[in-house]
Amino acid sequence: MKIRKLIAKQAIVRRNQELARQIDAEFRGASITAVIVTNGAIIFAADLLRLLNTPVTFDTISASSYAGSQSTNTVTMRSLPKSDLKGHDILLIDDILDTGNTLHAITQFLRGRRPRSIKTCVLLNKRRPRRWRLRADYVGFEIDDVFVVGYGLDYNESYRNLPYIGVLG
Ligand code: IMP
Ligand code: MG
Repeated sequence: MKIRKLIAKQAIVRRNQELARQIDAEFRGASITAVIVTNGAIIFAADLLRLLNTPVTFDTISASSYAGSQSTNTVTMRSLPKSDLKGHDILLIDDILDTGNTLHAITQFLRGRRPRSIKTCVLLNKRRPRRWRLRADYVGFEIDDVFVVGYGLDYNESYRNLPYIGVLG
């Protein structure tokens, strides 16, 4: 399949640095418990977390609402964080905010673990209408409502290792 480059590798590197400075500034004095939504956010989180000066621990959560390039309305939790999140300041990291179903469901789930706070960070935010009034606290890039791959994002599990973000078509 053909892939058209949308966001270059260098632009991602620069934007990650800006996000890290913003997160450091806002978490000053606290330590971060990052909860990484796998598999999509693994590559983004690995780069972003290494740029932070704030103390960080991390865990993962897995949920899925996609089959191929179609979003389905039910979100399935597949694996849960192993650590105790009670009283923690969570930074929930996902690859992309699309319908918002995934981030909404995960945020609701995490609230049940009684953290002190939950902030959300996504690499990409799709400009589209949503069922949930949901905004991420930290957003790498705003993009149009197109299906993208690369830098963690997949099409049927392929293309995650592309170093840039591309549009499949
Ligand atoms: P949402 O629940 O519709 O917000 O979708 C969230 C999940 O769907 C993301 O974590 C991605 O794994 C996947 N997703 C949504 N849009 C795209 C896309 O354009 N390319 C690849 N995966 C996507
Ligand atoms: Mg996916």
